Amino acid sequence: MIAAMDILITKAERSKLQDLDLNNLPFGRYFSDHMLEADFEKGEWKNIEIKPYQPLLLSPSLAALHYGQAIFEGIKAYKDKKGNAYIFRPQDNFHRFNVSAERMQMPQVPEELFMEGIRQLISIDCNWIPMKDDHSLYIRPFMFSSDEVIGVRPSEKYKFLIILSPTGPYYHVPMRIYVEEKYVRAAPGGVGYAKAAGNYGAAMLASAEAKMKGYDQVLWMDAIEHKYVQEIGTMNVFFIIGNTAITPNLDQGTILEGVTRNSTIVLLKEMGFTVEERPLSIDDLIEAHKKGNLKEVFGTGTAATISMIKELKYKDYVMNFDVENWKTAPLLKEWLMDIRAGRREDKYGWMWKV
Ligand code: COI
Repeated sequence: MIAAMDILITKAERSKLQDLDLNNLPFGRYFSDHMLEADFEKGEWKNIEIKPYQPLLLSPSLAALHYGQAIFEGIKAYKDKKGNAYIFRPQDNFHRFNVSAERMQMPQVPEELFMEGIRQLISIDCNWIPMKDDHSLYIRPFMFSSDEVIGVRPSEKYKFLIILSPTGPYYHVPMRIYVEEKYVRAAPGGVGYAKAAGNYGAAMLASAEAKMKGYDQVLWMDAIEHKYVQEIGTMNVFFIIGNTAITPNLDQGTILEGVTRNSTIVLLKEMGFTVEERPLSIDDLIEAHKKGNLKEVFGTGTAATISMIKELKYKDYVMNFDVENWKTAPLLKEWLMDIRAGRREDKYGWMWKV
């Protein structure tokens, strides 16, 4: 157990909070006063410190910069109307973090370090949690290899850090999505299910090309047949067809097991939908659209929460949606927001009190 005394705490002399308007925040641009840093050396975690947010001094031969052993998580902290701080399902992110670590041949981070680290950091910077709908304190735990050796092999040393960023919405308006046929995000046997930094870097060219064509993001297709839908940008994706909600299944290892994805499945069932986790082809989607059965399309993610898709373009076929009249995605967003703000009963024990 890593008790309070095992984390060395050095407080910032002056808070930067007064320089910021917590009601008007872009995503991920500002960082709170403190961060957590720990080192993995000789098989154990040590030097666990919470200290003022500051740059790292790194060698140009740092292994992570060359071979990409780097993983991260995204978690959000909220306050209820009484001002109590809560974190949304951090235990699930903790488990996923270590799944990613295993895939990237990195050490496991102990639960006490991850959870107690978050708890203490959030307690110190709790004034940074915005109290406005669609706003939160985004928690970014991450780990990277820190050997100063450019031989290709798993590193012997690693750094684990947690930083906090007060944020507003990731996507402000319903999105236009381009169905990607040339590039792929993940293949069976690859790292698609891991939150590996390289997955995000590797996706940037496809998003940039989609943006040049006037789209906000891409809908990824499977790597083998380019036929089955996978994810949208950095989000999981859901399709409402008739009274059924469909999202791609996880068992090929190409889809990130999103915490918001799982929460959405639970809430959709509570709303009375049949939820199917299964392969869904673009042809079936077009067919459903032509028959008028494709009711809603939305992405889910920690950063993005629920993001509505107003247009999907596949080859020459364009599917436009009347998002103004949608019921399900807005309701899901509202339910999640209400649970997080303490306005709706937390039936599933998702909110973790700091
Ligand atoms: C998240 O939803 O937390 C993500 O990881 C997406 C992105 C900000 C990288």
